[in-house]
Amino acid sequence: MQNRQITIAELPTAELTTAHFTQIETDLPVAAEGEVLLRVILMSIDAANRSWMKGATYRAAVQTGDAMPTYAICEVMHSNSPKVAVGDIVAAEATWSDYVIAKGHHVQKLPKVETISHLMSVYGIAGKTAYHGLMSIGRPIAGETVLVSAAAGSVGGYVGQIARALGCRVVGIAGGPEKCSWVVDELGFDACVDYREAGLSKALASACPDGVDVYFDNVGGKILEASLTLMNDKGRVVCCGAISQYDTDTPTGPRNLPGVIVVKRLKMEGFIVMDFAHNDAKCIRALQHWVGTGQIKVFEDIVDGLENAPKALIGLLAGDNKGKRMVRVAADPS
Ligand SMILES: NC(=O)c1ccc[n+]([C@@H]2O[C@H](COP(=O)([O-])OP(=O)(O)OC[C@H]3O[C@@H](n4cnc5c(N)ncnc54)[C@H](OP(=O)(O)O)[C@@H]3O)[C@@H](O)[C@H]2O)c1
Repeated sequence: MQNRQITIAELPTAELTTAHFTQIETDLPVAAEGEVLLRVILMSIDAANRSWMKGATYRAAVQTGDAMPTYAICEVMHSNSPKVAVGDIVAAEATWSDYVIAKGHHVQKLPKVETISHLMSVYGIAGKTAYHGLMSIGRPIAGETVLVSAAAGSVGGYVGQIARALGCRVVGIAGGPEKCSWVVDELGFDACVDYREAGLSKALASACPDGVDVYFDNVGGKILEASLTLMNDKGRVVCCGAISQYDTDTPTGPRNLPGVIVVKRLKMEGFIVMDFAHNDAKCIRALQHWVGTGQIKVFEDIVDGLENAPKALIGLLAGDNKGKRMVRVAADPS
């Protein structure tokens, strides 16, 4: 039996293209003692995939010839580990492949749910990142203004909906008029500013007449710079990611640092979702509650076929997704 894999043909120095990837076929890997053979069902497509191609981050850099790493939901096909059994559905560090090998004690058995993809969107990385970053770093209070960039994306969409459920005024930033309308009409934000239009600072100021108390930053660069000038004294800036800087050879940082932090007494803090794993159970309970009451709507953007993973990542960087983007490699085993 053959195993398809998508590997890095060449590391990008500027914009990512399909020429940076190649598809290969290898023999089906064999699980050694303590290991499991996994069939990949759903792969998470993340802006972080691109940042791993730039160098070491919170994980090692991806190198030419490597299969692209990914977080995946998988079915156990063969187990040499007492931790998991054949047929279990698990979360694993995988690669863009049909099948992968993992250490039995490194995979996480997932609960049985009606819609497996929800374990990757609202109850997965996207929902957890939104909840932990907002609650533990942003600490919004009802009545405050919360501003969030990449608002139509997976993390940003949940940040806004959670903040709304907490009684905040929520303003999004997204690319294009259609996405901005969707953020207001479907996700329930109070307003959304199109960053691709000229006059971003003015538009943000008019959408946030009382200033900004919490800015949840997914993008960095010029949008971060413009948002910082609107912060109220003692505001909190949640540094979640910097997608505007990942796919370019000319990164631009905010020019108003550190002055604005000093003058406005701001707190600016970065985080990685795993930092808050000890609070995951509380996070999932809260998300389940808001999904149940209809305060959080789940939007997913599922691309079919392993072979389409490079285009799915390139498209995510260009903003053609709404909600959590993932690639379906195999059908749900039910
Ligand atoms: N800290 C953590 O633990 C953690 C975990 C997960 C994700 N993240 C971060 O969260 C952010 C969102 O990632 P995601 O994977 O969930 O993707 P996503 O938000 O679902 O999609 C990315 C969105 O970013 C927007 N975007 C792309 N280029 C942009 C630019 N130059 N300026 C402004 N917006 C741009 C696009 O929407 P538009 O059409 O609106 O441009 C695109 O749809 C990323 O920065 C990622 O690194 C962090």
